[in-house]
Amino acid sequence: MAAKYQAPRGTFDVLPAAARGRARIEAAAAAIFARAGYEPLATPVFEDTELFERGVGKSTDIVRKEMFTFEDKGGRSLTLRPEGTAPICRAYVEHGMHKLAQPVKLSYAGPFFRHERPQAGRYRQFHQLGAECIGTDSPLADAEVIMLLSDLLGELGVPGVELRLGSLGSLEARRAYLEDLKAHLHAHEGELSRDVRERIDINPLRAFDSDDEGTRGVMASAPTIVGSLQGEDAEHFAAVRELLDAAGIVYTVDPTLVRGLDYYTRTIFSFVCDQLGAQSEVGGGGRYDGLVEQLGGPATPAIGWAAGIERILLALGEEEDAKAQRRVFISHATGAGKISRAKALALATELRHAGIAAEFDLAGRSPKGQLKHADRIGASWVVFLEDSGEGQLRDMASGEQRAVDLGNLVEEITGGEL
Ligand code: HAM
Repeated sequence: MAAKYQAPRGTFDVLPAAARGRARIEAAAAAIFARAGYEPLATPVFEDTELFERGVGKSTDIVRKEMFTFEDKGGRSLTLRPEGTAPICRAYVEHGMHKLAQPVKLSYAGPFFRHERPQAGRYRQFHQLGAECIGTDSPLADAEVIMLLSDLLGELGVPGVELRLGSLGSLEARRAYLEDLKAHLHAHEGELSRDVRERIDINPLRAFDSDDEGTRGVMASAPTIVGSLQGEDAEHFAAVRELLDAAGIVYTVDPTLVRGLDYYTRTIFSFVCDQLGAQSEVGGGGRYDGLVEQLGGPATPAIGWAAGIERILLALGEEEDAKAQRRVFISHATGAGKISRAKALALATELRHAGIAAEFDLAGRSPKGQLKHADRIGASWVVFLEDSGEGQLRDMASGEQRAVDLGNLVEEITGGEL
């Protein structure tokens, strides 16, 4: 029977089996953020619509087409957050964080919402992890935030990751460059796709993203922003590159790299993964030196990134299962008496305290039923408690079974390595 109600298009339930992989990613990120002093900040899932119009930019696809906007009972226009940087900057200004020692280093994780056409790796509710370093224009901050994401993807074992790096220059340089680019596009209007042609004056940078053959031809000879960098912008980009080189971070400079949000200045970067199809970016970000001021705060340079948890999971693919946590099932069927029951609880608690996942029968199953259940929950081992007080340990993968010292169960299971 087909279910009457289904999760809305582009959304999904995170079922218990899938939750483990997500929790591992969030825990790895939380540990990396904590070690580097990026403290968690949680903002609401909805904000005033104007925050995103001003922050992300009215000409972006996100604001033009993808926001879930609604009116509340008081007639206010609210929007489910499509991204986290504008809200973080709103909070920075609202709580006077510019008075704290700078930079303020923040991190976040949670659901975000964009009304996009759903496909693998692209959802209407998705989850991001992010870091923002607000209050410094030092190239060291650029290198640090890039390293945080590089470390996270490395630690999680995301395969086939490549880092692309670009720079958009300061706001003024970017403005001047955009005029040059528009002039180039206008000069070749006839060769451009309609979509690009209609947006020459609104968002000319998106032309670099086009799949249209005519447009690609025009863009091959277009001026690039990296090629136009001058003075302090050029020095800043060179300094970021030097620091990344010294840190052994491999990247390619992509002079045509653009990102879909208006607030970027200077450094931008994107981590792409060859295991993902069209939606190949696992995470990305850049500098947004004008955003805090734009939102009513003091002039405050900043940089950060966000990564998509679903994209990371997709990139990890099958490997995720192989790394699933080892689990022990304790069977107390042979000694149905109270002693065996209490022993099962005590052993499970001891294993859990040692960081090992452990469960026991809670449903009064027969010995055979318990073994079946152990298999069902993906247990790597089953411990059989015997009436005599002895125990047997079964390796579920090989089917081998041997006597085990119950007083030393943690060691027996981990072989001494935890
Ligand atoms: P973004 O590139 O729009 O940047 O999104 C960051 C990441 O979120 C993407 O790399 C992708 O992994 C994931 N993502 C975006 N849209 C979707 C979707 N519809 N479905 C699944 N995953 C998605 C930002 O949001 C900026 N706030 C990043 C930033 C922080 N820049 C500076 N600080």
